[in-house]
Amino acid sequence: MKLENKIALVTGASRGIGRAIALDLAARGATVAVNYNASAAAAQEVVDAITAAGGRAMAIQADVSRFEAAQALVKAVTDAYGRLDILVNNAGTTRDMLLMSMKEEDWDHVVAADLKSVFNCCKAASRGLIRQRSGRIVNITSVVGLAGQAGQTNYAAAKAGVIGFTKSLAKELGSRGITVNCVAPGFIPTALTEVLTPEQKDAAIKATPLGRFGTPEDVAHAVSFLASDLAGYITGAVLSVDGGLVMQ
Ligand SMILES: NC(=O)c1ccc[n+]([C@@H]2O[C@H](COP(=O)([O-])OP(=O)(O)OC[C@H]3O[C@@H](n4cnc5c(N)ncnc54)[C@H](OP(=O)(O)O)[C@@H]3O)[C@@H](O)[C@H]2O)c1
Repeated sequence: MKLENKIALVTGASRGIGRAIALDLAARGATVAVNYNASAAAAQEVVDAITAAGGRAMAIQADVSRFEAAQALVKAVTDAYGRLDILVNNAGTTRDMLLMSMKEEDWDHVVAADLKSVFNCCKAASRGLIRQRSGRIVNITSVVGLAGQAGQTNYAAAKAGVIGFTKSLAKELGSRGITVNCVAPGFIPTALTEVLTPEQKDAAIKATPLGRFGTPEDVAHAVSFLASDLAGYITGAVLSVDGGLVMQ
């Protein structure tokens, strides 16, 4: 899977899964814009790792849950590199609690970070991609968006929304040579999953046919595939990377 001469933007690439996606795209030859919100030093470390390996990257701060910030982010990437070929909407967060205890702000925060961010960045990038008549959009959803999860009504709704959004945009952009797909990770140990109890983690492994947690790299390989020329006839798909946890 070669991605030479491709310009990629990965949202939320300072750590966790986004970091692995940025490193994998760069290892395959893509120039990578490493977006972050708060973790400037971590994002710079990702850029340094890419450049040390002979690649090209830059870190860009933007809170992608904000419409204007996403517009400015995409403009900064295209100003710096002349175009954008691959958009990976990975930024996301959780605020888990039962609906009875969930505050309106917990709902709004997660829906903004996990769903509105995808609208914001796709809207900002789509004009350029349409003009180019080529491009790849990969949205990171979750098995929780497919199967639901107690304590995650906000997150599950946002991630299910990402799937519906992806399929709709795939239908809008297909005739322009642009593919839009989702990757749905299962349980991948990162800062996001640190809040789970040992019992919850044990239960997740027991429910996973492959009998292990995934790695950020497992997810990154699927993203690089969907971003590559090899996936040219795949659009509107949801590719689960979950060890078989939620079979569709
Ligand atoms: N880990 C899992 O088991 C799992 C499973 C299914 C799906 N996912 C999805 O995979 C994606 C990455 O998750 P992760 O586990 O790698 O989480 P993580 O370790 O918590 O990293 C989240 C990343 O998103 C960024 N981010 C959050 N809100 C942002 C915003 N408003 N604007 C810009 N960047 C923002 C963070 O940036 P800062 O560091 O700058 O704050 C960070 O780089 C998320 O969409 C998540 O829902 C994860």
